Amino acid sequence: MKITFRLIVSLLFTTAVVVASFCYLQVHAEEKRLNEELSLRAAVLAKSFEGAIESYLTYTEQPERLKKYIEKFQGHKRLIGLIVDMKDGQRITLPPELAQGDLFRKESEKAMAENGAVESNSKWKQRKVNYYVIPLAKEGETVGALGLIHDRTFIVKQITDFWKNSAISFSILALILSITTLLIIRWSVTGPIARIAELIRRATVGEMPAQPKSLEEKGEIEKLFFAVSHMASSLKAVKLDLVEQSRLVNAQGTVWTKERLKDYLLTKLQGKQLYVVANREPYIHRKKGSAIECIMPASGVVTALDPVMRATGGMWIAHGAGDADRETVDKKDQLRVPPWKPSYTLKRVWLNEEEEKGYYYGFSNEGLWPLCHISHVRPVFRIDDWKQYERVNQKFAGALLDELDDSPSMILIQDYHFALLPKLIKDMRPDVKVAIFWHIPWPNPEAFGICPWQGDILEGMLGSDLIGFHTQYHCNNFLDTVDRVLESRIDWTTFGVIRGGKTSYVRPFPISVDCSSDGQMTVEAQTDELAKVKKNFGLEGKIIGVGVDRIDYTKGLLERFRAIERVLEKYPQYQGKFVFIELGAPSRTLIPGYQSHMKEVDELVQKINARFQNGNYKPIVFLKEHHGQSEIRNFYRLANFCLVSSLHDGMNLVAKEFVAARQDENGVLILSRFAGASHEFISALQINPYDIEGTAEAIHQALTMLPEERQERMRKLRSIVQEYNVYRWAADLITELVKSF
Ligand code: F6P
Repeated sequence: MKITFRLIVSLLFTTAVVVASFCYLQVHAEEKRLNEELSLRAAVLAKSFEGAIESYLTYTEQPERLKKYIEKFQGHKRLIGLIVDMKDGQRITLPPELAQGDLFRKESEKAMAENGAVESNSKWKQRKVNYYVIPLAKEGETVGALGLIHDRTFIVKQITDFWKNSAISFSILALILSITTLLIIRWSVTGPIARIAELIRRATVGEMPAQPKSLEEKGEIEKLFFAVSHMASSLKAVKLDLVEQSRLVNAQGTVWTKERLKDYLLTKLQGKQLYVVANREPYIHRKKGSAIECIMPASGVVTALDPVMRATGGMWIAHGAGDADRETVDKKDQLRVPPWKPSYTLKRVWLNEEEEKGYYYGFSNEGLWPLCHISHVRPVFRIDDWKQYERVNQKFAGALLDELDDSPSMILIQDYHFALLPKLIKDMRPDVKVAIFWHIPWPNPEAFGICPWQGDILEGMLGSDLIGFHTQYHCNNFLDTVDRVLESRIDWTTFGVIRGGKTSYVRPFPISVDCSSDGQMTVEAQTDELAKVKKNFGLEGKIIGVGVDRIDYTKGLLERFRAIERVLEKYPQYQGKFVFIELGAPSRTLIPGYQSHMKEVDELVQKINARFQNGNYKPIVFLKEHHGQSEIRNFYRLANFCLVSSLHDGMNLVAKEFVAARQDENGVLILSRFAGASHEFISALQINPYDIEGTAEAIHQALTMLPEERQERMRKLRSIVQEYNVYRWAADLITELVKSF
């Protein structure tokens, strides 16, 4: 509509300019013609009067006689006055009032002086008039002048009428032009465009476009229409082809597996060594009485990266935090892990109490952790903690550099504990490729600005060739922060930070789990094992919910238990029948905030249990200890639902582990929409953990969901975890890093 309007307005404007110019020229010519006609007429009339009047000049001493004579000329067409001016100043006029004043006196005098005709246009009595004056002679000598006044208003009227008629013609022309334009545009432009749009829409939803007719007799728009039809058909063919190809590829097993990752990296890395640096070690040795046990800690980093390292080999450098760790390493502080199937090397770095307190508990977990999670716990930044953070980063840099030989290597640094490490390594070894993966959220620049050492942290991270986050949202926040804090150039098309001639790319890599693990157990063995667990925990015949977390204020444990209390209150039919098992691993217990949180959670659980307790029945079983992976998997499999209520979480791998464990395609995942996993898991029941009523309703919905819906949702979730598993995550990250070699 806008186009049509613009077209009509410009057409009308151009037409108006052209019509007005032509009219002006025409009017000008017509006016000239009428004026010439009038002066000719005046000249002829004056000449015819001249002789007769001159004969009366003898009687100038008797003006009455001349007056009487000129009265005879009255009534000539458009002649409205006549003046006879004598050289001596005498004036005889018709009508008589012309005698007053000096009207046209100058013209008369000029005619006498020049002895020739003089003409002028002027106004008299509100009328436009023409004055034509010729000299009068007596015996060959000029004695006076005869002037004729003609009415000119007919010329003005004719011109005005002409303009009026032209305006009417133009309006009719404008109307015809507008209607014609409108129709032409409708038929030849907007109509075909609408047809093309419809065609594209139909092609998008997979409908076949109409068969193109012959092109010969078609216009340009029609040709475009057919070109689009053709393109739509080709696109559809390509789409079908791709669907088919991907079906074939999937059928051949392109899902990433540890074997595939291994083969892939053999070709990609071409002999390059892979190093992982993470604070948390994948295997901790601790004393149990006189024996030593080896456990895998509750850690997202370990869950994700241990299977990758088992597939690829290489070295994992981490803080040796177990009380029996020193007793289980060789002279180089190394050991092969996992102990039951050695696949890669774990190198332990030792920290003294002061270092651990400042770097791990202090700066990392009282500073950066709450800073990045924004879950209403105030970050604490102390200069001493920062100093230890710097020192420990240097210590890890040293430990890594000691291991590097001359060949190019790939270093994958994990998390917020090592923001300074990329630069420290690159300064010493510019030839190695470094990626840092930030496992927790990255807040907006204003929030991050709280950190007094934000510039150092960003500079340290930008030593990396590649910086990874779980979501694009966190990447954007990071780039915005760099833009705000450092002198650098952000290339928003490639998501790169260019600084001092070096580019660091920032990319999202949503981390995941190994979906294939534990496939060895037979169905029968599994059933037996689950029956045992049920018996041990008094869960036979019970409806079961499960939660698995490090006990951390970001996990929303208080909100979770309040929602469980609300369900029991609102739906009393669950009392005595519903049990929620919380597998809570104590975490960062030296930090006062964690101690008080643990106390608060404990008290709430006791209060709820006391309220609904009946004999041996308690609705919440809070198991506050470390749990092995197979034990956790048993609970995942027993549960009717798993509840993840994080107030803010980078990804949350518990959600993915639960789905991976449900080979029976049963069970419901209730997932906080503030966990990174919620971007992929749209088939989960998503909740706002702060909304207790809403979470309680989601639990009720999970428990009353029809089996078909449960299965459908779980199938969708499982297909995501199977396709986007941790091997694919590692392959994507390494592929991106290899590009920079
Ligand atoms: O998932 C985020 C994370 O900080 C990991 O980096 C870490 O392994 C995990 O939480 C557990 O924390 P921590 O190592 O402090 O026990």
